[in-house]
Amino acid sequence: MAGQGGIDEERRSSTVARLLLDASDQDLVDFVELVATPAFVIDAVADGFVFRASNSLHEQATGMDRATMMGRRMDMPLMADISAQVVPNYRICMTSRQIQTYDECLTMPNGVRWWRTTLIPVPSPDGSIRRIFGSALDITPLHDLEERARRLSADQDALQARLTRTLRTAVDALATAVETRDPYTAGHQHQVSELSVAIAVALGIDQETREMIRLGALLHDVGKLGIPTSLLVKPGRLIDEELALIRAHARIGADMTGNLDLPQTVRLIISSHHERLDGSGYPCGLAGCDIPLPVRIVMVADVVDAMLTDRPYRRHLTLSAVEAELARNDGRCYDQDIAAVALAVVRGDMPGFTLPDSWMLQRIPRAMA
Ligand SMILES: [Fe+2]
Repeated sequence: MAGQGGIDEERRSSTVARLLLDASDQDLVDFVELVATPAFVIDAVADGFVFRASNSLHEQATGMDRATMMGRRMDMPLMADISAQVVPNYRICMTSRQIQTYDECLTMPNGVRWWRTTLIPVPSPDGSIRRIFGSALDITPLHDLEERARRLSADQDALQARLTRTLRTAVDALATAVETRDPYTAGHQHQVSELSVAIAVALGIDQETREMIRLGALLHDVGKLGIPTSLLVKPGRLIDEELALIRAHARIGADMTGNLDLPQTVRLIISSHHERLDGSGYPCGLAGCDIPLPVRIVMVADVVDAMLTDRPYRRHLTLSAVEAELARNDGRCYDQDIAAVALAVVRGDMPGFTLPDSWMLQRIPRAMA
């Protein structure tokens, strides 16, 4: 196994062994003093470990007096608590005969600190391990930074979740506000949203885009808040000026939500759900691939739900009539593949994809009539 600085582990261990194994106590002290990080040497004895040497950096870092520690067992009162943590690692180093590097949190006389410790076994000529050289880095600042980053990330996740809940609640309230102004389209945006998401699921569209489609469909007619209610519920045919005013809801919706930080897909669904593939729609006359897939889906869900609903000027259509109407369109206005999926979903012919019971109960009995 490769060690630090490109020296393999076996060579590191044998180098340390050559330097440390037969060193006098003073040589040990001199050696560890040369190390640029807190360093120490411990020896295995019959029933534990004793401290043999440490450098001044170790003394400063741990707050433990070297003179007190030298030659003392690890279970002395000063070290008893720490010993319970570190001795198992010493034993692993001895039995594995491998260099061990690990992070540990120790309560020292100078406070709680995090250490990244490396233990190097020092093999005796007979192959046994009776001495370990250790060095440690105080990683408390790094650990604190990581901990703060983890907390910050958790806080951000919680904030994002709260913002998402707030956005969903606000969108739902806006959708309901639009629907309560017009009894003929009560529930329309919620139903278009549910059908759009069911189509998106059936088409294998990813979760993030589906959420944009759900929100956009819930808000697609939000511009109707700017249209007089008397016009929305007016029976009979509308004169051109009235029709133009109603059609303005797409642009009004885009203006109303323009200052909200809504995703681009949601804004496009609001502004473009009355566009048509052949360019005959409004407000911009977009055509073909200038109309993105999420908008195409809501376009189809919108007309399917509208045809299945009573309006001031006509009764709802049956599902067969809706199917005939979409077939007659033959891809000029609506995406035929999406229309086919929408009809299959509404009919319950898409295995694994079903609309919510609320949608089916409200639409199917009337559609079948
Ligand atoms: Fe609309």
